[in-house]
Amino acid sequence: MAVPPAARYPLAPGFLMGASTSAHQTEGNNISSDLWALENRPGGVLPERSGDAADSFHRWPEDMDLLSELGFNAYRFSIEWARIEPEDGRVSHAAIAHYRAMVVGARERGLEPVVTLHHFTSPRWFSERGGWLAEDSAERFATYARTATEILGDDVRYVATINEPNMVALVHALRRRASHDGGGTGGGVAFDPSTVEPDEQVTAALIRAHRATVSVLKDANPDYLVGWTVANQVYQPEPGAEEVARAHGMSREDVFLHAARDNDWIGVQAYTRHRIAVNGPLPVPDGAETTLTGWEFYPQALGQAVQHTRQIVGQHVPILVTENGIATSDDERRIAYTEQALAGLAAAMHDGADVRGYLHWSALDNYEWGSYRPTFGLIAVDPRTFARTPKPSAHWLGALARDGYLPAPAVTANGNPPVRTLV
Ligand code: BGC
Repeated sequence: MAVPPAARYPLAPGFLMGASTSAHQTEGNNISSDLWALENRPGGVLPERSGDAADSFHRWPEDMDLLSELGFNAYRFSIEWARIEPEDGRVSHAAIAHYRAMVVGARERGLEPVVTLHHFTSPRWFSERGGWLAEDSAERFATYARTATEILGDDVRYVATINEPNMVALVHALRRRASHDGGGTGGGVAFDPSTVEPDEQVTAALIRAHRATVSVLKDANPDYLVGWTVANQVYQPEPGAEEVARAHGMSREDVFLHAARDNDWIGVQAYTRHRIAVNGPLPVPDGAETTLTGWEFYPQALGQAVQHTRQIVGQHVPILVTENGIATSDDERRIAYTEQALAGLAAAMHDGADVRGYLHWSALDNYEWGSYRPTFGLIAVDPRTFARTPKPSAHWLGALARDGYLPAPAVTANGNPPVRTLV
């Protein structure tokens, strides 16, 4: 799809354009993790188990080859604590070598590795001894981070400590409620973060773990750029609900953004919006297009999330978009969504937001925490042969990356200002 030259927003040299994955969702057979145990327990309620996933544990060179051939210059992936420390106190040197090869492999292909240390899954032993609520959870996580510096070496700049700590705190609360109700685990695909209050103790523990890890990593190598990535829910107040929306967003999102004010960067992850009325969250508007996760098709979320994040963390903290995308089986809608999301991002950058990169979720169709049905990938994966097939969206986005521009703020065409600054 050609973008007319007038509608181009040129990117600064070094701007990162790429895609993201996580270990559990793509590698397969993450058998020492807490989620594997949950998926495979007798009477489990998740519709599907991760199983072999996309077999990226073995096929990561092919994944990286494709990303680099498509024109991207960055790849965000996570390393799996449960593989690196499969038993309490036992480090797997083979796992370290594996991930080290991935870091080197990314660099060899011209891909900037953006490495996440924790993407939702923990070692089973860590969860069984109390998870984030164990007294020494921050120290345990920081110890793992110290081990991980063997993987990062001097080849990684961007390190994310914990992916979406706000979702981790919410899922904890959701699971606790489900176990009180005698119900399921809350791990299904239609997870609605508006229905629970995040667990305050888990929130505090995650912030402690993040801070401890930032200092361990900076001690090891002051050149590491350390941050974390936050799920931006784009809470939009209905008239009169400004205070309700502010309070709703504070515990679910802003507290985690505040904790990043002295970090090297902050990761923005945005997919859709949530409208908040005086009595609480509203459902998706009648007649709105929805995606395979049931979320409203709302690409404007990205620009708005960037503006909101910038306002909370301050202009001095650079932003990386570490996730943005859409679960759809119609790849034309993926392109339409991404084109509009990027136009919103360009508008925010034009307004002065210091954005250093855009990493699409996801590089591959993968395990969406309970089901393979919601396909977020730029690249399709055959579940039996694991053959990878880039979709038209992958070629389209890769061409933007190669040519170094974003679609410009087309939003002005309908009379809206190019930038909407959320208060
Ligand atoms: C997570 C990903 C997930 C994606 C789509 C984010 O919450 O970091 O693991 O697959 O959103 O739901």
